[in-house]
Order: sequence, then C-alpha cells, then structure tokens
Amino acid sequence: MRALMISEPGGLETLSIAATTPPRPGRCQVLIRVEFAGLNFTDVLARRGAPGYADGWPFVPGMEVAGIVEAIGEEVDGLRVGERAVAFTYNGGGLAEYAIADAVLTCSIPDELDSAQAATIPLTWATAIGLVRRSHIGDGGTALVTSATGGVGQALASLLARHGVTRVVAASRAGKTAVAGTVPIVRDDRLTARAIEANEGQRFDAVFESIGGDTLASTLDALAPGGVLISYGAAAGQPDPEPPRYRTLRGQNVAISGFSILAMARTEPAAVRDLISSVIRLTAKGLVIPDPHQVSWSGLIASHLDQSEGVLRGKTVLAVKAHAS
Ligand SMILES: NC(=O)c1ccc[n+]([C@@H]2O[C@H](COP(=O)([O-])OP(=O)(O)OC[C@H]3O[C@@H](n4cnc5c(N)ncnc54)[C@H](OP(=O)(O)O)[C@@H]3O)[C@@H](O)[C@H]2O)c1
Repeated sequence: MRALMISEPGGLETLSIAATTPPRPGRCQVLIRVEFAGLNFTDVLARRGAPGYADGWPFVPGMEVAGIVEAIGEEVDGLRVGERAVAFTYNGGGLAEYAIADAVLTCSIPDELDSAQAATIPLTWATAIGLVRRSHIGDGGTALVTSATGGVGQALASLLARHGVTRVVAASRAGKTAVAGTVPIVRDDRLTARAIEANEGQRFDAVFESIGGDTLASTLDALAPGGVLISYGAAAGQPDPEPPRYRTLRGQNVAISGFSILAMARTEPAAVRDLISSVIRLTAKGLVIPDPHQVSWSGLIASHLDQSEGVLRGKTVLAVKAHAS
C-alpha cells in the first residue's frame, strides 16, 4: 500500500510516498481502508522529531481518517466490516491507504455526512469542541483565538459562535483573509493591545492559545477577571515562557489550563470518543463542517511543506483515490 513515510526526524528530505505492507488489526482494533486523511500540524511536529508524536522510525504520520472498515480484530463490538467510519489514529499511520485504529476511537459515519468532511472530525473538530468545553465559556462570553485560520482555529471559531459567544477576536499573520464570524486582527508584538481594542476595550473570558512562546506569555494580560487561558499548541517552535506567579493568578482572578487530545487519547480514550461523537451528533443538528481542500498523493508533500510554513489555510485532506492534486 502507499503511505507518506518519514524516514527519520528532519526536514522535507526525510519525506517520501513509499510502498509498505498493510497493517493488521490487533485486539480491540480495526483496519480502515482510508478514503480521506486529514493533514494536521501534528504531522509537522512528528517529522521534526518533537517528543510524543512518532513512536519510532520510519514513521507514517496522519492522525485522522475516514474510510471503510475493512477488517475487525478480536473483542470489537459495535462496528461492522463494510461500514463507513472515522477514526482518531493517535499513533499516526493515517496518511496511508490502510490504517489501524483503536475501536474505541472509531465511530460510524451517519449517511448524511460526507466522508471528506467527516475525516476532519476525529482530531480537528474533536480538539475544538474539547477546548470549548474546557473553557466553560457560555452565552454572551468573549474569546480571543491567537491563530484562527488553520484547521483547529476555524473549527473553534465556528463552535464558539454556536455556543453563544458574542465576539471572537481572531488573530493571524498579516495577509491572511478573515475567518467568517470573527473580528480579525494581525498577530504581532501588539497582539494583546490590538485584541482588547477589537473587543471594544474589554478583556476576554477565554483565550485559546496555540502559538506558544512570546504570544503565550503576552496573552495572559488579555484575560478578564474569572477568565481562562488555554494553551493547546506551540506552533512558533519557541520555548515555553516562564509560568506566571501564583500571586498574579490570584490577584487577577484568572486561570491557566492546558489541553492535549493526544494525551487524552492515551489516558482517557472514552473521553475522546465522546468528543468525536458529540461533533457527529452536532452535524445532525445543523453544524456545518466546511468542505476541506483535497490533495492527491502527488500534492501531499507540497501541502505538508505549506503546513509547516503556516501558509496552509483552513483544512486540507488527502483524497486517497484522487488522481490529481
Ligand atoms: N492540544 C491539542 O489537543 C491539539 C490538537 C490539534 C492541534 N493542536 C495544535 O493546534 C495548532 C493548530 O493545529 P492545526 O492542525 O489546525 O494546524 P494548521 O491548520 O496547520 O494551522 C496552524 C496555524 O498556526 C499558525 N502558525 C503560527 N506560527 C506558525 C509557525 N511558525 N509555523 C506554522 N504555523 C504557524 C498559522 O496561521 P497564522 O499564522 O495565520 O495564525 C497556521 O495556519 C497547532 O499548534 C497544533 O499543534 C493541538
């Protein structure tokens, strides 16, 4: 079968589309014939050798897929061969013609849901709904999203609006077009001041932060009393800043939280399944998952490069059977 292969941690020279043996499902696992696989920033982190993403080399990245259940291992209930399903393949392996998934992280796709759209649920949309829940933000709240033009960022903006949040201020690098339903600002060294201006002079009930480094350090000051800052990524590749003092948190009445769906999949897979199922249920209640941009195998490495440079916009999926990008 074809798969995107990373030979070792490094640059783009470590990537190839390789022929490899299809995996076999073990106990409590299923084999999925992949139709669409999401491209995620986690693939970039795996290729760069960031800890916790690749469990060995060579490594096939890809953490979210939609396709057909091809085979079922022992002790799997509730899934049948031949049905359409999505899966969070948190150990990678998704950017391939066949992928192994834990049954607990595999959910049936309802007839009404398109497979390309569904492929963006298990990691991207599940993370976004997990973040919204973690923030406890509710009706009338305001939120700052420090990077809204990527896959998780766009999903988050959409779910926040659905959750009754009145204003989402969404930062991105200069030159990117605005995300629908948000107040766009440029992310630069005046980010916090710009964000508060864009929020009519008010601080925020929640800050969703995925850039890390200096951005993470500066956005604590964007919180209103009672607010929460959730750190869920470090795309800039800068080291984490020093944590604030407890007395700062007490004095400002604010909280800092962390969120990792990957860590959650390893320790509380049922909780991740609930996030995936919740998004699927919301699609039956009117949540619109945008059509992702589709690339074929021939465009896959170029799209991975765009993703690593931060210029990919919205969500992109590999269409496994497509003939051109
Ligand atoms: N904690 C979790 O559970 C979890 C789960 C999934 C993803 N994540 C994290 O969430 C973030 C978004 O993931 P995604 O899959 O949605 O990625 P994506 O679609 O590739 O979006 C990433 C965005 O980050 C911004 N960015 C800022 N500095 C960057 C840099 N130096 N290199 C590359 N991009 C940069 C870019 O947009 P702008 O510059 O316009 O903002 C880019 O569009 C990533 O940090 C990822 O690691 C976390």
